[in-house]
Amino acid sequence: MDKQTVLVLDFGGHNHSAAREIRGLNVYCEVVKSDITLEEIKVKNPIGLVLAGGESVILNPAIADSGIPVFSSGNLKEFLFEKCGAKGDWTMKRFAGEYTANIRKHTGGKKVLCALSGGVDSSVCAALLSKAIGKNLTCIFVDTGLMRKNEAAEVGKFFSHGFEMNFILVNAAGRFLAKLAGVTDPERKRKIIGEEFIRVFEDESKKIGEVDYLVQGTIYPDIIESAAVKSHHNVGGLPSVVKFKEIIEPLRLLFKDEVRRLGAEVGLSKELYTRQPFPGPGLAVRCIGAVTFERLEILRDADYIFRSEIAAAGLEGELSQYFAVLTDMKSVGVRDGKRTYEYTVGLRAVKTVDYMTADWAEIPYAVLRKVSARITSEVAGVNRVVLDITAKPPSTIGWE
Ligand code: XMP
Repeated sequence: MDKQTVLVLDFGGHNHSAAREIRGLNVYCEVVKSDITLEEIKVKNPIGLVLAGGESVILNPAIADSGIPVFSSGNLKEFLFEKCGAKGDWTMKRFAGEYTANIRKHTGGKKVLCALSGGVDSSVCAALLSKAIGKNLTCIFVDTGLMRKNEAAEVGKFFSHGFEMNFILVNAAGRFLAKLAGVTDPERKRKIIGEEFIRVFEDESKKIGEVDYLVQGTIYPDIIESAAVKSHHNVGGLPSVVKFKEIIEPLRLLFKDEVRRLGAEVGLSKELYTRQPFPGPGLAVRCIGAVTFERLEILRDADYIFRSEIAAAGLEGELSQYFAVLTDMKSVGVRDGKRTYEYTVGLRAVKTVDYMTADWAEIPYAVLRKVSARITSEVAGVNRVVLDITAKPPSTIGWE
């Protein structure tokens, strides 16, 4: 079954909304630069061309006259299904079936190594590859001690029982905390955590010996924007310390919403495939100031209450990202008639499409009231809760 392809010519804008809309109609498309030549187009044998973004869209006359249907405005669905003869048969079920068959053949019984973070992308890679190659897949999950409440245990339990693979859980919390002792600068925290992650992974992969393939959870927007500056990559430094022959990127053709749908297809729990983004440096960059076990525990408990109440109010689907921040500010309060001098917790909840800009989310007062009451009564060491009402820009989503 040959895959039908639509080419989206990007004339600027870079938001990929046209491409995501086309994929949403179960039609496969690729984003290409607007200066693509007719020869390059022909190699891809597209059923149609969609011109996207940009104020002044001027199509090369040779392409305009090539006989390939071109869409610039109007009804996209009609264009795809009536003009281009799209079948709408690009589904995640089909992708999973084709990918597992191909990768099984490609890796031919050799060893594949995957760094599992518990985030959506690496979890989907792990589940997909487990289906394809079973025991030839080794997943290393590093518990940095910087994860949310119960998270490491849950991810560990899920993957070590539900999927055929070699699952290695490394408890490295002590190592990370030792390296972070006394560090308060956010960029230094990031750097230390990134480096320590690589060192832990290196130590573990030495025990395994040489592998043939290393998995990277790159998704399609990263590929399209590969020229743009983006340093958020969590497996960034691994290729230099692990001996391997080839990198495989199972998600390189998929947008985030497709990755989530694929997750459902390959048997991930809804909890895992709908998970909100969680920064690689974890709670260390939500613990403003010093990162200690005690402060992390306060943050974990406050964050857990916030997330539970958002879930209980049925608001999960409406928010892009929401979490608690432990500030390094203490202020005066009163409890049981006695003066307290304790930490302030910040609540952050945003709505965003691309995480480059974001708006703060309006959470009903009743929910906020409950969150605040629970945090101040259930979490020792916190006597004040504040809400972050800043958009990005000028803020960022995270506080560090
Ligand atoms: P900011 O805070 O810069 O974050 O508005 C935008 C998005 O990126 C996530 N983030 C990170 N993700 N490693 C990651 O993998 C990081 O170092 C990192 N820093 C921020 C953040 O959670 C938000 O979704």
